[in-house]
Amino acid sequence: MSDFHTIKIAEVLKETKDCTSVTFDVPESLKEKFGYKQGQYLTLKAFLDGEEIRRSYSLCSSPLENKWKIAIKRIEGGIFSNYACTDLKNGDLLDVLPPNGNFFTEIDSVNANNYIVFAAGSGITPILSIIKTHLASEPQCTFKLFYLNRNVKSIIFKEEIENLRNTYFGRLEIFYFLTKEQRDIPLLNGRFTSEKLKKLTDKIIDVDSVAQCFICGPEEMIFLIRDELVNAGLSKDKIHYELFFSGATDEDKKRAAIAIEHKFKGTEVTIIDGGKEFHFDMGDDYDTILDGALAAGADLPFACKGGVCSTCKCRVVEGMVEMKINYALEADEVSKGFVLSCQSVPTTEKVVLDFDV
Ligand SMILES: Cc1cc2nc3c(=O)[nH]c(=O)nc-3n(C[C@H](O)[C@H](O)[C@H](O)COP(=O)(O)OP(=O)(O)OC[C@H]3O[C@@H](n4cnc5c(N)ncnc54)[C@H](O)[C@@H]3O)c2cc1C
Ligand code: FES
Repeated sequence: MSDFHTIKIAEVLKETKDCTSVTFDVPESLKEKFGYKQGQYLTLKAFLDGEEIRRSYSLCSSPLENKWKIAIKRIEGGIFSNYACTDLKNGDLLDVLPPNGNFFTEIDSVNANNYIVFAAGSGITPILSIIKTHLASEPQCTFKLFYLNRNVKSIIFKEEIENLRNTYFGRLEIFYFLTKEQRDIPLLNGRFTSEKLKKLTDKIIDVDSVAQCFICGPEEMIFLIRDELVNAGLSKDKIHYELFFSGATDEDKKRAAIAIEHKFKGTEVTIIDGGKEFHFDMGDDYDTILDGALAAGADLPFACKGGVCSTCKCRVVEGMVEMKINYALEADEVSKGFVLSCQSVPTTEKVVLDFDV
């Protein structure tokens, strides 16, 4: 069941010209259910022009603050971000799913970890939550933040980040990269490139001492940074990323086409959700089990429908499916049978999916 709760907005604030933060007034009765880890996200639902729209937004607050705050960057032509940045006001009600996501590593107060974190624009939201939470909970950890923006004015949460640098003196280093403003240090002008990342790993990042790396920004930036860090010797399993949006690459399209080619005609699907079973037959009108199930009247959790958020995650307990795109599940989750139902094309006569796991 999609477990939306109607929650009052405590505060709407303009953070920069194009970014608005929204803090929710989560009632006492829901605080346990809405408990979260640094780096997780909320999924919001609204009816705009008669259409149900669902979008996910990372919490930029820390669970230690007893606060639920997100920040939404306006996307040109974007349905939800424009509505949120223009229309939302204090006291409004929004339908919100409890926090979700796996963009975090466990906190341990004895950790003396060195973290490196990369963010671009609104990608700072989960990164800020991660920085705040680790700095406060692991007294010996350090952070190096590499943060890309257009210009100084567009830097979201600049003041808060700099206050953290002062509060945790010597434990947070900040490197601002700007694309539309020139400064004296050439390395900090413009986007991340292979050349720049090589300089960073030569001069600023001691790769051998890095415990974990978190990256949030556009797809090509994430994969460039990941690949360069791996080339510099950082183990892939220490690199975590959160993708907000994926424009399907040629490779994605190819994989999706192959999955659809393998689709079994008329699969009998059983959905286990909330302890109950729901049965339907996949017709020809839909490729993925999520779309088939929604059309058959099931009420299942989902948000992006693009393979990036994992809200639609479930486990295959019988039969087989092939995923078109997966930017949300880690390899070990896939090996345990977890799939994204929004990307899962059934390839056997019978498929049983469990959403309660
Ligand atoms: C786990 C997760 C966490 C997220 N956290 C945040 C967050 O903290 N802050 C935030 O602002 N957004 C965040 N997003 C992105 C957010 O969910 C929406 O995708 C975004 O706000 C755009 O929605 P929209 O309805 O305005 O645009 P849409 O109407 O969906 O799209 C409009 C156009 O913009 C393109 N587009 C959509 N999203 C993006 C994007 N992110 N970048 C570039 N082009 C895009 C689409 O292809 C389309 O052409 C997150 C997404 C995920 C999956
Ligand atoms: S709904 Fe986002 S990954 Fe399926």
